[in-house]
Amino acid sequence: MKTTILKIKARHPEPRKIAQAAAILQHGGIVAFPTETVYGLGARLTDQQALKKIFRAKKRPADNPLIVHVADVVKVEDVAELTPLAKKLMEKFWPGPLTFVLKKKPIVPDLVTAGLPCVAVRMPSHPVALALIKATDEPIAAPSANLACRPSPTTAEHVYSDLKGRIPLILDAGPTTVGLESTVLDLVHTPPTILRPGAVTFEQLKKFLPNLCNPATARQKISVIPTSPGMKYQHYAPKAKLILVIASRAKQDQASPGPACRQAGIATARKAGLAMTYIKNTAILDLRQEKNLKKVARQLFASLRNLDQKGVKNIVVYGVLEKGIGQAIMNRLRKAASQIIE
Ligand code: TXA
Ligand code: MG
Repeated sequence: MKTTILKIKARHPEPRKIAQAAAILQHGGIVAFPTETVYGLGARLTDQQALKKIFRAKKRPADNPLIVHVADVVKVEDVAELTPLAKKLMEKFWPGPLTFVLKKKPIVPDLVTAGLPCVAVRMPSHPVALALIKATDEPIAAPSANLACRPSPTTAEHVYSDLKGRIPLILDAGPTTVGLESTVLDLVHTPPTILRPGAVTFEQLKKFLPNLCNPATARQKISVIPTSPGMKYQHYAPKAKLILVIASRAKQDQASPGPACRQAGIATARKAGLAMTYIKNTAILDLRQEKNLKKVARQLFASLRNLDQKGVKNIVVYGVLEKGIGQAIMNRLRKAASQIIE
């Protein structure tokens, strides 16, 4: 199958191009499209054959459910039981990088929820995603548009490099702005729990959910009972061996090895945006130097993919503090790591 990359304007997507992508979905196909978090690989919610194509194209295990993308809060009631609390949070955080796990309605195929009685729902804020859902006139079920076990794609090129020849079309609106997948919030079980941290942070949600379960605790719980099936897979792994160094709060403030390495004539680079030092085939990514954690989130997956392309064998990452969006960054790094040094 030939994979076409179709450039589209991020803010004002051309209706003709949206119609072209929607037609593929309406005729039983699948399409990769940008969201503000990462690129997704979508099918019409009720099209079982197309849903199967998503799992095949990504080589995704069938027990890992998909997120249902809507373009309007009203549409949630077609697919899930909307509680007053969920509605309040949607009004606050949507459109945006927050996914709700709610009780599902019968219209949602088992393929989407992997047989679970709950469904994950999100309204993305990316104009291309919203226009595509509206033009399709049905919610779009979509996981991230990467091969299972590869970092999520934040550019159309990432999607192409994973899924070339496996999908017909990629809508290319340039790099995504958030860069990490949405926060997944389980509102079905008690207490409410963050199943996957993202750009909508624990601290932000805690204001509305006083008994919200901290993802750090949830991590231990989930290793026993996978409430969110996706949590049990080793995600986001680069080909290189990633060693994550987690320093204490005090050590976070210490000087980074960057300047010392430069003095010693060791190559340093800032090409992908994040501060990188190279010693032979080892790259050192010192995130303690980065003041702007949103930028780290935006560029993390691209940096990991870049290093793989360079053929780097080891990646040593100095982590960030696990608060705010730092929690999401560290969650992805922990999953990508072969070794964690605390
Ligand atoms: O930002 C995002 O969420 C991106 C964009 C494309 O929207 N999507 C994404 O999808 O990251 P995916 O499939 O890569 O991750 C979905 C996560 C998985 O960890 C999955 O297990 C969990 O959400 N999930 C989906 N449905 C669920 C359900 N019914 N109950 C619990 N967890 C669920
Ligand atoms: Mg994914």
